Amino acid sequence: MSDKTSTPASLDHAAGNILTDRQGHPISDNQNVRTVGNRGPTTLENYHFIEKITHFDRERIPERVVHARGAGAHGVFEAYGDVGGKPISTFTRAKLFQEKGKQTPVFVRFSTVIHGGHSPETLRDPRGFAVKFYTEDGNWDLVGNNLKIFFIRDPLKFPDMVHAFKPDPLTNAQSMERFFDFISMSPESTHMITFLFSPWGIPANYRQMQGSGVNTYKWVNKEGDGVLIKYHWEPIKQGIKNLLQRDANEIQSTEFNHATLDLYLAIERGDYPEWELCVQIMNDGEHPELDFDPLDPTKLWPADQFPFLPVGKMTLNRNPDDYFAEVEQASFGTGVLVDGLDFSDDKLLQGRTFSYSDTQRHRVGSNYLQLPINAPKTRVATNQSGGQMLYHVDRSPEQNPHVNYEPSSLGGLQEAPPSGKEHEPHYDARLVRHKIDKPHDFKQAGDTYRAFEDWERDELVTNLANALVSCTEGIQNRVIRYLTEADSEYGKRVSEGISAAKQKIKASGLAETHPAIKKAEQLGHGAD
Ligand code: HEM
Repeated sequence: MSDKTSTPASLDHAAGNILTDRQGHPISDNQNVRTVGNRGPTTLENYHFIEKITHFDRERIPERVVHARGAGAHGVFEAYGDVGGKPISTFTRAKLFQEKGKQTPVFVRFSTVIHGGHSPETLRDPRGFAVKFYTEDGNWDLVGNNLKIFFIRDPLKFPDMVHAFKPDPLTNAQSMERFFDFISMSPESTHMITFLFSPWGIPANYRQMQGSGVNTYKWVNKEGDGVLIKYHWEPIKQGIKNLLQRDANEIQSTEFNHATLDLYLAIERGDYPEWELCVQIMNDGEHPELDFDPLDPTKLWPADQFPFLPVGKMTLNRNPDDYFAEVEQASFGTGVLVDGLDFSDDKLLQGRTFSYSDTQRHRVGSNYLQLPINAPKTRVATNQSGGQMLYHVDRSPEQNPHVNYEPSSLGGLQEAPPSGKEHEPHYDARLVRHKIDKPHDFKQAGDTYRAFEDWERDELVTNLANALVSCTEGIQNRVIRYLTEADSEYGKRVSEGISAAKQKIKASGLAETHPAIKKAEQLGHGAD
């Protein structure tokens, strides 16, 4: 606190702890605005005050439209150098995987999906698991979730899905009726809700959960041959822990930042979380022998046919220095691949790839890739410049500074030599708007239901029934029909569960006030 009767010890610029403004001017009074007399009025030339307050007015950038709440950490990825007993170069020429023990720095952001930046971390929601690898060949982002599958397979449906899951545009309250309205018209979601409403829908924290790339990618070797790849992160040291709904309620009643704090504190005490990166590999092609399409993100690749093969280990060992600068401004995207990694034709993946850098130009700004958290730790030399907040020009010292175009004979930047044969898939098909041939929306949902342990199935049935009780009969019936197609016992138990939940609400005398029932009745949503 500045007391005008005592003079600050030093206004020496070089003194490490002297407050300055952003122009580098030492600030000798940070307590009092400049006024005409000590009772005001305030004058307008208060440069320090105006700079401080106008910057404060702009402290928030738009939240991520999904995955707004998150926590992040720095770490390292160490390659094993082989895969399934073969040199990894058999399948990919990506440099970060080639040598045993090779280390690549990483930054990871975990998140919840639907609600805003300060929402509770106990909610039933997929968890984001986004990893930025700062490789010698530039950045690779593996933007995944904790669950291994997704709600939809066509990117055209994503904005509608997110609207249905987010709060009602009128009441600003999330509603299971709107959620299940969309689900009940999207049978491909049946597998995902089977995971989401089981204990797997609320991981205990970010350390004790798995991660998955969900979409199907490709690896490409020196000869240009591609294989289909799924990525999975396994928490080898911490193990997996999920929460029952009642445990989540209990935590939420006293703490809604528990996952962020858990990660931060574990790293501070040196208990570094570790994940093993595993891949599943499949020959490139359509695979008529399988009862699912390998490019369908609503499906698991059975682990007995396509084993999980470890390729490296990631350790998170450093907390960010500043949440905003690093975690909030971090920008991940599925288009950010390095040589030796490629896209598959998975439609959802291709839709995502457009969306990420588009939203980041809006959310962070057109030069978001120059921020330290997003910039590669390798050389950048482009002919791109201009735009808001340009920090520096990506020019090479060897480049003729007059030449900001390519090709040129005057000493501009030049194309890199190819690092191997280009992967060139062949296409011969009509341009259409069609569903895939093998949607098979229910079979794997049934397999997953049957693979759960008894307590997981019990929890799934109860959670689904409690969520569906507030929906119209039409929505309930459609969802029960899908669950029954998956497994007749599954449909029957959820149907009975809804009746029991209704009875319980009536018997408790809460029917009048139960928010879900009241809302459905008062808003007159009975016409389905
Ligand atoms: C974040 C779009 C599907 C995982 C985001 C963001 C958008 C988006 C716009 C905000 C990005 C930002 O502001 O930086 C889409 C679209 C999808 C889709 C259009 C489907 C068509 C998926 C799937 C996964 C996923 C299938 C999981 C594999 C994530 C994660 C984040 C995210 C982890 C947060 C990244 C971070 O921590 O900054 N998505 N998404 N998304 N998405 Fe997706």
